[in-house]
Formats: sequence, structure tokens, C-alpha cells
Amino acid sequence: MSDYAYAAAPVVVGKPGSGHSPDQCPVEETLCPVVAHEWVNDEYKHLVVKASPKALAAQPGQFFQILCPSPDQGELWFRRPQSVYRVGRSSGRLEFLYKVVGRGTRGLATAAPGDMLNIVGPLGVGFQLEPEWKNVVVLGRGVGLATMAPISQVAGEKGVRVTAILSARSPDLALAADLFESVGTVIKVLDTDGTSAVENVEAILRRLIAEGKADAFFTCGSNRLLQLMKRVGREHGIPGQAAMEQIMACGLGPCYICVRTFEVNGQKEMRRVCVEGPVFDLQECLGW
Ligand SMILES: Cc1cc2nc3c(=O)[nH]c(=O)nc-3n(C[C@H](O)[C@H](O)[C@H](O)COP(=O)(O)OP(=O)(O)OC[C@H]3O[C@@H](n4cnc5c(N)ncnc54)[C@H](O)[C@@H]3O)c2cc1C
Ligand code: FES
Repeated sequence: MSDYAYAAAPVVVGKPGSGHSPDQCPVEETLCPVVAHEWVNDEYKHLVVKASPKALAAQPGQFFQILCPSPDQGELWFRRPQSVYRVGRSSGRLEFLYKVVGRGTRGLATAAPGDMLNIVGPLGVGFQLEPEWKNVVVLGRGVGLATMAPISQVAGEKGVRVTAILSARSPDLALAADLFESVGTVIKVLDTDGTSAVENVEAILRRLIAEGKADAFFTCGSNRLLQLMKRVGREHGIPGQAAMEQIMACGLGPCYICVRTFEVNGQKEMRRVCVEGPVFDLQECLGW
């Protein structure tokens, strides 16, 4: 009997004709060879895998459910969601930037080049970039910076001017600054020198609005920064999108583990972050 009695076998990247991959389904389970996997600082790792054409169709803000190797003798239940950090369509590579926080990511951190990693995706609804937006502001903190990187990259490639405000505890945790710098202007705000204070970030946002550099807002990774962008965006009529995080189990819609409350036209609404998000209209997000 097959090892995969209840599901289609995953597509093995680089092996023509493997697995079951009906064309109409945009999501698939794939076994991806790890190409590189390095620490970028004490807390974060950068993972690069070879990916299938369907995985490489991932849009900024979408995510993959990664089956992490167990870091110990026990079993590891549930996949862990990680948003796509970079898509190299010409190189056929998919990149993730993640913080090692618990058993799942500790296990993931053990994957070595040459190992096969089982991923499901691309999942969820990503960011949208409207053609009339010529200047956008992205504001992220911590792991949220990994999620904001690809929308900044796509915006930069389309000639949209990007101002990236990177909030972090210390300069080494202002992740992906080189990627943001390659597509726009970077403003780092840090806990170490107090510049990450909400009042200072608010002053920066108001200056960017006054300079005509804020046609749209994008944010991820911090509740207080989300609340700030929402308030300033509402005041100035600036559209915005926020990528929300929530603990997930299936990542596909049926389990309802990932439900959060949103507010739509004054009415509270429960939505699943995995399929109705993770990117939502900023004004509809209630934060956490
Ligand atoms: C759509 C989405 C995209 C994400 N993208 C990234 C990314 O690009 N980079 C990155 O570093 N992290 C990302 N995360 C968070 C990542 O999924 C969690 O850090 C990871 O699942 C933790 O697993 P663990 O077993 O190591 O930790 P656990 O032992 O399960 O948990 C350790 C800590 O992390 C918290 N946590 C667990 N799962 C989540 C979760 N899904 N969201 C938020 N906090 C969680 C727990 O409450 C706990 O405090 C994303 C989460 C979502 C929902
Ligand atoms: S994680 Fe199962 S419905 Fe969202």
C-alpha cells in the first residue's frame, strides 16, 4: 500500500510527473530540496528551497504551511505557517525568513541543505497593489518585516516609490534592510535609541503624508503600529492593508482555529485568517 493512503502524494520538486497535481488547483503539497539555510542573527534563519511552478506563483502576503522536522524524539503535530519572503521565479527558488520561537521552528532550523521539506501552498489572500498608487509606505516590526518584503519588492519593480519604516529592538533585528533599500527608502526606528516610540513613528507618517509619499499603507507585525496606521490612515483617507497573524492548524479553512474578529461597516464579523486573509483591509482590523 502507498505511504499516502489518504491523500495525494506530494509533488517532488525536480522530478517530472511525480505526485498528483490537477491544473485547476492553485495549491499543492510539494517536497522541496533545501538549497541554503543560514542564521541571519541570533534569532532568525533564512531558508531557501527549490520550488515547483505552482509554489513559485505565490503572491506577496501569501503563506505556506511547512511540515517542520521534529527537534526531539516526540512527534510534531500541525504544520507551521510562514509567509513567503522572496520568490525567485527565474531561479526556481522560494525563500522564507523566520524567527526560531518554539518546537516547530526549532525543528525547522535543523533542516540542512539537501534535505527535502514538505510544504503546502501558496495559501491565503495576499496584498493588492492598485495601479493608481505611486507612493506606498510599509511599516513592519519583527517577523512582520519578512512578510512586508515581497510587496515592497513588487512595488519597487512596478516603479512605485516605497518608504519602508523598519521597527526593531536593535539595529541587527531590522531584518531585510538591504532588500528594502534596493527598492526604496528605509527609515529604521529602534527600541535602543527610543525612535520606535509610537509618537515618533506617527510624526514620520505625518511627514510622509505631507510630502505626498503616502498613497497607501501596508503593515504587519505589531499591534500598536497597526492601530497607529489605522488611525492616521482613517484621518487622512489613506487606504491600507494589514497582514494578520494567528495560530493556525489546517491553514485551509475547515478547522476555524484561526478566527479573528473584524469590524465591517460598524458590525463585528468573524473571519478565518488562513483563507479570508492573512491580508485584510486595515480599517477592518481590530488588532489583538
Ligand atoms: C500567515 C502567517 C505568516 C507567518 N509568517 C511568518 C514569517 O514569515 N516569519 C516568522 O518568523 N513567523 C511567521 N509566522 C509566525 C509563525 O507561524 C510562528 O512563529 C510559528 O508557527 C511558531 O511555531 P513554533 O512551533 O516554533 O512555536 P510554538 O511553540 O507553537 O509557539 C511559540 C510562540 O509563538 C506563538 N505562535 C505560534 N504560532 C503562531 C502563529 N501562527 N502566529 C503567531 N504566533 C504564533 C505562540 O503563541 C508562542 O508564543 C507567521 C504566521 C502566520 C499565521
Ligand atoms: S487554520 Fe484551519 S480554518 Fe484557518
